[in-house]
This record gives sequence, C-alpha cells and structure tokens, in this order.
Amino acid sequence: MCGIVGYLGKKNATPILLEGLRRESYRGYDSSGIVLFNGEEPTCIKAVGKLENLENKLNGQNLKGFLGLGHVRWATHGGVTEANAHPHSDCKGNIWLVHNGIIENHKELRESLEKEGHKFVSETDTEVVAHLIEKFFDGNLEEAVRKAVRLIRGAYALAIIAKDDPQKLVAARLSSPLVIGISANDGYIVASDATAVAPYAKQVVNLEDNEIAVINHNDFYILKEKQPEDLEIEAEDTQRGGYPHYMLKEIMEQPEALENSLKGRLILDQGLAQLGGLQNVSDQLRKIKRLRIVACGTAYHAGLIGKYMMEEYAGIPTEVDIASEFRYRKPILEENTALLCISQSGETADTLAAIQEAKRRGVLTVGIVNAVGSSIVRETDAGIYNHIGPEIGVAATKSFVSQLAILALLTLYLGRQRNLSLVKGQRIAADIQKLPGLVAEILKQNDTIKEVADKYKDFQNGCFIGRKYNAPIALEGALKLKEISYLHAEGVVGGELKHGPLALVDENFLTVAVCPSDSVYEKMVSNIQQVKGRNGKVIAIATKGNEDIKKIVDDVIYIPKTSEILTPILSVVPLQLFAYHVGVFKGCDVDKPRNLAKSVTVE
Ligand code: F6R
Repeated sequence: MCGIVGYLGKKNATPILLEGLRRESYRGYDSSGIVLFNGEEPTCIKAVGKLENLENKLNGQNLKGFLGLGHVRWATHGGVTEANAHPHSDCKGNIWLVHNGIIENHKELRESLEKEGHKFVSETDTEVVAHLIEKFFDGNLEEAVRKAVRLIRGAYALAIIAKDDPQKLVAARLSSPLVIGISANDGYIVASDATAVAPYAKQVVNLEDNEIAVINHNDFYILKEKQPEDLEIEAEDTQRGGYPHYMLKEIMEQPEALENSLKGRLILDQGLAQLGGLQNVSDQLRKIKRLRIVACGTAYHAGLIGKYMMEEYAGIPTEVDIASEFRYRKPILEENTALLCISQSGETADTLAAIQEAKRRGVLTVGIVNAVGSSIVRETDAGIYNHIGPEIGVAATKSFVSQLAILALLTLYLGRQRNLSLVKGQRIAADIQKLPGLVAEILKQNDTIKEVADKYKDFQNGCFIGRKYNAPIALEGALKLKEISYLHAEGVVGGELKHGPLALVDENFLTVAVCPSDSVYEKMVSNIQQVKGRNGKVIAIATKGNEDIKKIVDDVIYIPKTSEILTPILSVVPLQLFAYHVGVFKGCDVDKPRNLAKSVTVE
C-alpha cells in the first residue's frame, strides 16, 4: 500500500522525507521516489525495490531543498518500474505530486487529456492528476488543485508542489488518510501516516474528506471542497457508452469492474489479500470469533455467499441478516463479534440503522461499500471500497460481482490470519486473479443467452434452484428476473424443492438450475430430474465441458471452470443477461423498474 510524505520548512527536506518513507514502509511497497525543490529546478529520483536502493542513488548527490515530496509505491495501475513510481509530474515538469488511493475514472480522464495534447510517461492512475492540475494551473496551485479534484472520482491522499508557485505545499484528501504535522520551528510535514510525522511534529491536524490544505512557510489554511452531489451522474463514463441501457453496459463492464476491485489487493505468492482500508483494525479482526453480515436485497445475497466463504475457508462462524430484521429484533452480539455491512450506495437506511445499533453495543463495524464518502463509509470503523464507479441501472449487477470478489479477498485476509494454509491461499488467490477474464468469456455468449430469453419470455411462473455457494445465486437470479421483467419467479434452495415448490411444476413452469460441476452437482442433477419427471422446462447453468447435462435439460448456458468458492461470481452473469433480455423483450423499463429506487434511504 502506498505511503506519501511531503515537507516544507527551514531544514533540508531530504533526510526528513527519507525518514518518513522508512516509517511508512511497513505498509508494503515495491518502489520509492522523492522530488526536491530548492527554488531552482525540481530534482526527482526514483528506484525500484528497497528503500536502500533509493538511498544509494541519493548518496553522494548532496541534494538539498526546502520543499519536497516522497512516496513508497505498492503497484496497482502498471508494473513495478521507475516510470510508474511516484512522484509524478505534468508535461512541463512544473507540477509534482504523490498519491495514495485509486483514481477510478483515470481511463476517461487520460483519454480526454491525451486528446488535448498531454503526454503521459507512466501507466499509473496518478499521472492523470498531475496533468489535470497542469490543465487548470495559471500560477495559483491550490486553485488548480481545487478544479482538478472536482473531476476526480475515487480515493486520494495527495501532496502537491509546483515549481511556478514555489513557496507552497498543497495537500488534498478523499477517503484516504492524510495528516499534517506542525513543527513550531522547522516547518510542516504531511503524510498518509501519523508515524511518519512523529519525529518532527509536536502537533497534528487530520485532514477531512474533501479538504485541501494550503501550507506556506508561516502558516496553513484549509479549503473545504464540497463535492456537488450530481457530479458523478454527469461524468462522461456514466453515459451509456453505445449500449441501449445502463444495465447492459454495467453487465458488460463487469470484467473491468472486477479488475478495479482486485487491483493491488492480491499477493499471489503469499496467498494473501492486502486490504488497506482494514489496516487500522487488523489486530481487532485477528481476534474476532464471529462475523455478522447485514445487508439488503442483492447485497444480502452477496452476504449469504460470504457466509459459505467465511465458514469454509476462514473458519469464522458467520450469520447473515437482512438489515431491516437485524435492527428490530434483539440480535445477540457476543464478545469478539464484528459486523460486516455490504452496500453499493452506502446510503441504505436499514443497513445504516443496523450499523448504528451494532455500534451502540460496542461491536466493530466494517463496510464493503461502492459509493465513496457515503453515510455507511462515515459510520463504519473501517472498510473496503468496490472501486467500480457509479452503478446507474437500478438493478445491482456489477456491484454484486464486485461484492463477491471482495468477500473472497476478505476470506483470504481473515483466513490467512487464522488457519488457511499457504498453498490453499495461493490457489484461491490465483483463481481470483483469473476472474475478469472468465467473466469476459461468459459475456461473449450474450447472443445465445438472448435467444434463450426469447424462447422463455412468455412463461408466467418459474423458479431458480441452486445449492451451497449457488443457493444464494438462485435467490439473486429470481430477484433479477422479477424486478426487471415483472415475471414471477422464486429462488429455491435445491434441497427444499420437494418440500413444497415442486407442487408448482407442470409443462408451463420454468426452472433455471444453477449447477456448475462442484461438490453438490449430483444433488442438483437429482433436482433437475424431479422437475423433468413432471414435464417442467429446465435451463441449466453448467460448467463448460459438461456435455451430459444436455441430455436431461432443455437448454444449457455454460460458464468456465473455477474453484467452487468462486463459481457464484460466474454463474450470476448469465442470469443477469437472461433477466435483462426477458425484460427488454417484454418492453419493460429495465434501467428504472417500476416502483423501485436505486438508493433506498427510507424504511
Ligand atoms: C436489486 C437491488 C437492491 C439493492 C438493495 C441494497 O437489484 O439493487 O436489492 O441491492 O436495495 O442496496 P445497497 O447495496 O445500495 O445497500
């Protein structure tokens, strides 16, 4: 995870920056760099690998400056190279900055800046910020930063200097910690970690979200930048990008959404997940004995799958509650319980109320949230962002696969704190890494899925069945079909079929069986036979290579092979497309289903 440091003051910045970086190096890093400014030309030095490599490069150069920035980088966007290491600069070598966090809309910003003639030298998301500031710079650094951060979506702690506005250090924060250390005699030091400012500063100020600090030699002041609420809606990437509906666009961009959710979070060789947002509560998480998950709707289905993951691989007893139930009954919260809430919008009233209830009872609260800076983010003790950009379609699609991928990361994180072996951890991590490519493979079958949807669009009643990891996918498949096409469908756990729902089956009843080749496959085949024995129609979601299934069902949609724990991330994708196409065939408003809202801020 990256660490940033910046200094403006009377002393030579070099040793102060290096000490700051040393103190931040525990966060994990793979390259480092500093830029120093002495009033003439900024000098930037970077090195791949250990901090000593940077120090060796600096040795003998006697670099001095009253102003400077330093960075330890944990690679996310682009490989471990000097070009990708921070600090980054603009085209003219005027603006220099270091960044911790992720700029989610870096691709669109880069494309438009390139069209305007900006030349990029790295693969990083960070470099776009330097060029954006360049675009707005007319001699006043904080003014340019203010304009630039309005266009950025994501999380950032930034420290910035400009050769042409030299007596200033500007720092900005959104959802990534940033502290300003004040030394009465020496000057100011900013850092992503209080430990980095400790040797110099007697007092600190913690920057809040959307604040910009402007530091000069004598004092500093803070600009509060209130983000306009509708900015995300107007951002370029929220246009439908050639798709007829946001829902289809969001389904199709799931490989990229998964890549963004996973970026920089997997350590393959150690079978580990690195989750920066949990750093402050990592010791508390090591001690938890129980996990309670709360969420609503689709996010609740993600939570149900999380239970299977946590119990099988992390060995943590896990219960999942619909948030509206949790808040009104009297849940028993034992000592060493943590509450995990899952929410795309971060504003769902019931989920928020559940968190407040848990906090009142002294429970550690952790969030998996997409909307940066939302109420749930502010309310929870720690959290993990999805980093998938705004989801506009009312039906949750890309947020669901991202929530599942993050739950898998969290399982690795908690599992490896406990008894999950290195080898198993490595295997799961390697399979998680392959997910974006596998989802892309499924999406290529869109036309086939559309044909299947056309064939069954006139059915009035149906059910989705699944077991184990795919039992919640049956619930999710049914929910998607209901909300998008207004057709009635139930989600049924395979084992429950003969305890009631089987009575519904006749030749006019559709069953979608989620039956990848996993540990419960044979049981699913029995369920399918029970339905076929009563003349019901069956669509199977099966694993590629399973030719036998064709003999017993009416239609098959294939998904690639992956480990059992990850199958729901693949099996839900054809169900999303199926619901989408049925909805479109039926003339429904798939982006805004009747009676529903995207953000449910009331009970
Ligand atoms: C279904 C859907 C809803 C949401 C639920 C929770 O497609 O979108 O069921 O999943 O309202 O919303 P968040 O995740 O914003 O808390």
